[in-house]
Amino acid sequence: MNAYEAITGRRSLRQLSTVPVAKPLVQKLLYAAVLAPAPHHTKPWRFVHLETPGSRKRLAEAMGAAWRADLESDGVSESRIELLLSRSERQITGAPALVLACIVAEGLRSWPDQRRQRAEYRMAVQSIGCALENIMVAAQAEGLASFWISAPLFCPDAVREALDLPAEYEAQALVSVGYPAGDARPRAEPDLATLIKTT
Ligand SMILES: Cc1cc2nc3c(=O)[nH]c(=O)nc-3n(C[C@H](O)[C@H](O)[C@H](O)COP(=O)(O)O)c2cc1C
Repeated sequence: MNAYEAITGRRSLRQLSTVPVAKPLVQKLLYAAVLAPAPHHTKPWRFVHLETPGSRKRLAEAMGAAWRADLESDGVSESRIELLLSRSERQITGAPALVLACIVAEGLRSWPDQRRQRAEYRMAVQSIGCALENIMVAAQAEGLASFWISAPLFCPDAVREALDLPAEYEAQALVSVGYPAGDARPRAEPDLATLIKTT
């Protein structure tokens, strides 16, 4: 499979088989991540391979508690909260392979004003998107499927505490990776031509 085929073949797939993903394969995907382009020769991210059931359970519980607090303050019904939290917990504890992506400020410049400081931080965010896409495209090339989980972005302190991560780690996203479940089908693609303009 060439790069174009891997990119165009990749689709988010949330129905993953229970077949484990071998550790060397996960490491290969993480190597693809850390080769991502980044602003002015920095590496403003760290990746955490959540290998043990214990770390996943702690993460699921901490994120679940944080999400519950948000949903309760939004006035969401208890039955809906239970539904959302149990699905989220299953995605985390049941992922064949699970990677957490965090931003760190390493190498990022300090600016005297907010405009440039924000732009600097956004460059790190753009860069972590490249790294996560590298994981997902590399997974596709290996016959794996994946999907992005943005929940950690909403509760970075809970994530840091649950996983005992260094203070500078700012959680951004999880990627779940596994072999496609037998009957899984990605969602239909919308009309993509409207997204591309030529002037
Ligand atoms: C920043 C970002 C956040 C996302 N968050 C989630 C998420 O929390 N849960 C999920 O199932 N998919 C999530 N996705 C996946 C998108 O839903 C998916 O990429 C989109 O529907 C397009 O489908 P495709 O990936 O199959 O092309 C996210 C994707 C991005 C780029």
